[in-house]
Amino acid sequence: MSRKRMIYEGKAKILYEGPEPNTLIQYFKDDATAFNAEKKAILDGKGVLNNRISEFMMTRLGSVGIPNHFIKRLNMREQLIKKVEIVPLEVIVRNVAAGTMSKRLGIAEGTQLPRAIVEFCLKNDELGDPLVSEEHIAAFNWAQPHEMDEIIAMALRVNDFMSGLFAGVGIKLIDFKLEFGRYFEDETQRIILADKISPDSCRLWDLETNEKLDKDRFRRDLGGVTEAYAEVARRLGIIKESAGGAEIVDIKSGGK
Ligand code: TYD
Repeated sequence: MSRKRMIYEGKAKILYEGPEPNTLIQYFKDDATAFNAEKKAILDGKGVLNNRISEFMMTRLGSVGIPNHFIKRLNMREQLIKKVEIVPLEVIVRNVAAGTMSKRLGIAEGTQLPRAIVEFCLKNDELGDPLVSEEHIAAFNWAQPHEMDEIIAMALRVNDFMSGLFAGVGIKLIDFKLEFGRYFEDETQRIILADKISPDSCRLWDLETNEKLDKDRFRRDLGGVTEAYAEVARRLGIIKESAGGAEIVDIKSGGK
């Protein structure tokens, strides 16, 4: 690993140069951060679980026609991905009020929204990822209007698919964050889903008890963070329980 050239280090991942042109290796760290990295911890095994959960989601989304950057998982912590130019937006889809939406608008956490709501935040840590409108995005050229149409349509399709997938395993998809990128191939350019999908960037509540199975366990000091991520992986069939705790079983990687 040390001989690979590092391209970028983020809060929960590292990107290395890939083995072929137009590819990167995405490495999942155990680091957890919240509140714009003011709160930090290392959670043993989180990276391994997130690598598998993200592989599972991206593969499933690819199989229903949502183009994404995932190529294949390489090992416990790394996956091969397509290199993209990241659109500098955090695209958030919400089904139920929680987190900053509840705080900003005074809507009680847990309130079902009348329809899925898509929000955009500018990816800028120094500014604390501020909420921006499509007017800002167009005026400052962060993305073209036709790219925004594709991003919104894709985000809503991801929401429909993932809501159903999670409901099938007894989990309510409250909200989540996506990132998109521009993929250049044969002199054409298209928008594809990028980054990662894991309980770090989704709110997932048990359908019956409303128990939180996501990073809010870390943000709010509820404990059992890795255990909750393992529970999500177990329900999705990615890992099975064994006498010694959670054991990762092979899933077909697909999506190649
Ligand atoms: P939000 O409630 O806006 O913010 P916070 O996570 O600070 O409470 O988050 C909505 C969803 O999007 C939530 O599942 C977390 C995810 N998200 C990220 O993963 N990264 C981000 O930078 C932001 C703003 C949200």
